[in-house]
Parts: sequence; structure tokens; C-alpha cells
Amino acid sequence: MSQIGIFYGPEMGSVEKVARLIADKIGNDRVELIPVKNCDAAALDRFDKMIFGASTIGMTNWNSDYKDSDWDVFATKLKDANWNGKKVAIFGLGDHVQYPEHFVDAIGWIYERLEKLEVEVVGFCSTDEYEYVESEGVKDGQFLGLPVDEDSEPEKTDLRVQNWINRLINEFGF
Ligand SMILES: Cc1cc2nc3c(=O)[nH]c(=O)nc-3n(C[C@H](O)[C@H](O)[C@H](O)COP(=O)(O)O)c2cc1C
Repeated sequence: MSQIGIFYGPEMGSVEKVARLIADKIGNDRVELIPVKNCDAAALDRFDKMIFGASTIGMTNWNSDYKDSDWDVFATKLKDANWNGKKVAIFGLGDHVQYPEHFVDAIGWIYERLEKLEVEVVGFCSTDEYEYVESEGVKDGQFLGLPVDEDSEPEKTDLRVQNWINRLINEFGF
């Protein structure tokens, strides 16, 4: 059974916490956790199935203050990987109370970059159980990945992650 690469950033905060929760639930022997900081495209070539995790730190800042964030740098390397037959699922940390008009925008930011490379993205989520006003992570009425809000509804994280993984098992085909 092939392993799943969980590429995440930044380290030490909620993204890493959720990346580790996902690893625990899938089974640590079936995944490899890889911080995107200082990571090269060659690491992407080692997996057929990948999970990408990021936080949204203000979309208005993507092109200014945060241009050197772990994901900003790693995203420029995605084009160098071989994406043939690969599947990627995305999870995104955000805060729907403080940032209801940009809730988990980073999910959309990552999706857009994968879409340009014609990568198959799986693991979409219904918007039904989320309160928000606007999100660039939503397309055709669905989140393009799993939104997690450790700031304002951490009590929902465990079940959200579990339900998502249950579906990913089918969509990834493992
Ligand atoms: C400066 C700043 C800007 C943020 N902007 C957004 C935002 O636009 N949308 C959103 O959903 N969450 C936003 N958040 C919330 C973070 O995404 C959230 O706290 C996340 O869990 C952080 O993950 P980390 O601890 O791994 O960095 C912002 C947080 C900070 C500190």
C-alpha cells in the first residue's frame, strides 16, 4: 500500500496540530509528515496521494507581508513535480468569526495552483455545516478541501477530520 505524503506549513501551530491529527487517524505507518519549509519538488515525486495543509493569514497579505511564508515559497516549486496520475486533498485552517469574509481562502489559493497544473484534487466538503460570508475556498457551492477552525470551534475539529478521512479513503482509493 503506497504511503500518503502530508505536506503542511507553517510548523508549530494549528496547521501542524491538524496535520498530526490526520496522520494519527489514517495511521502513522501509512503517512509521512513533511513540512513544506525548505522542501523541494523531488519530495512530491515520492507520492501518488498527497494531503496539503495551510492556514490563511490574510489574503490581502499574500502578495505583501507574507510573500515569504512557507507555502508562498513551496508553491513556486509545484510546477517542477511530475503530476501524472497524482491525487491531492487540501485542508485549511481559518477563523470564521474574525475573518468571515475571507474564511479559509488559502484552500482556494492552493486549489487554483493545482488546477493550473491539471492535478486531480479530491476531498471537497459541503458548506452546510460552516458559517461564513465569503470564501475563496468555495467553488460551485462546495469547499475545495476541508476547512478547520481551531480558533473559534475547536470542539468540531475531531469529527470534521474523521468524516473527511472516511470519505478520502474512497476518493484516494486506499
Ligand atoms: C494576521 C492574521 C490574519 C488571518 N487572516 C485570516 C483570514 O483571512 N481568513 C481566515 O479564515 N483566517 C485567518 N486567520 C486565522 C488563521 O488562519 C488561524 O488562526 C489558523 O489556525 C492559524 O494556523 P497556524 O497556527 O498554523 O498558523 C488569520 C490569522 C492571523 C494571525
